Amino acid sequence: MLLQLSTWPEVEKHLERESGIIIPIGSTEQHGPNGLIGTDAICPETIAAGVGEESGAMVAPTLNVGMAQHHMAFAGTMTLRPSTLIAVIKDVVDSLARHGFDRFYFLNGHGGNIATLSSAFSEIHTERSLRTGGAIGAAVRCKVANWWMGPKVKTLAKKLFGNAEGSHATPSEVSLSFYAHPEAVKSAEMSPRIAPSGGFHGAEDYRRRFPDGRIGSDPTLASVEAGERLYLAALGEIAADYKAFLAAD
Ligand code: NI
Repeated sequence: MLLQLSTWPEVEKHLERESGIIIPIGSTEQHGPNGLIGTDAICPETIAAGVGEESGAMVAPTLNVGMAQHHMAFAGTMTLRPSTLIAVIKDVVDSLARHGFDRFYFLNGHGGNIATLSSAFSEIHTERSLRTGGAIGAAVRCKVANWWMGPKVKTLAKKLFGNAEGSHATPSEVSLSFYAHPEAVKSAEMSPRIAPSGGFHGAEDYRRRFPDGRIGSDPTLASVEAGERLYLAALGEIAADYKAFLAAD
């Protein structure tokens, strides 16, 4: 059930039986020579929509722009400062909490968002902890789930791509985005076949070390077919994890 395609009476009715919501969160950033700029938003959005369709879970609009300062030396990337993203996450949770949602499941597509999500959750809890008995007293629970880190998805990615999976512009995430948008499949020459690995500092340093944007990966291996397999693996894992999150004491 997509929030954006629901009416307010439908949302009110939904809240009578379930007070959780899935919030896909991504990034708008370079994903190497053949990866879509929207990869990190498209992947969790697609999985969340599937979970919503299968189980009736409420799915919020995708937070498309994340914390991607380290990709800013590549055309098309957009970033929020960590402090801005914390404020956005907090306002999104507080808006929905006002209506009665109290379990917030952030389905994340971008590693660079994890630290900021964690800080945002601390801010959200701090505000409530400091106002016990006050207007914002309702308890909430927040969780971040990274779609690519479930055991089934990880095992499948390893089986499909081995050491060409890498850590950025991976063939797995590019495949999943191609599955979601077959009309936007791209191809490009890349050299070396597997990109270098390692750490980085700011945006200029990132581009110097990883000139085509990839880290440790060979996304020429990406395909719609692999994307469908990864989607189905992630769908099962995330649906079960969300159900457990709603049921947890
Ligand atoms: Ni990515």
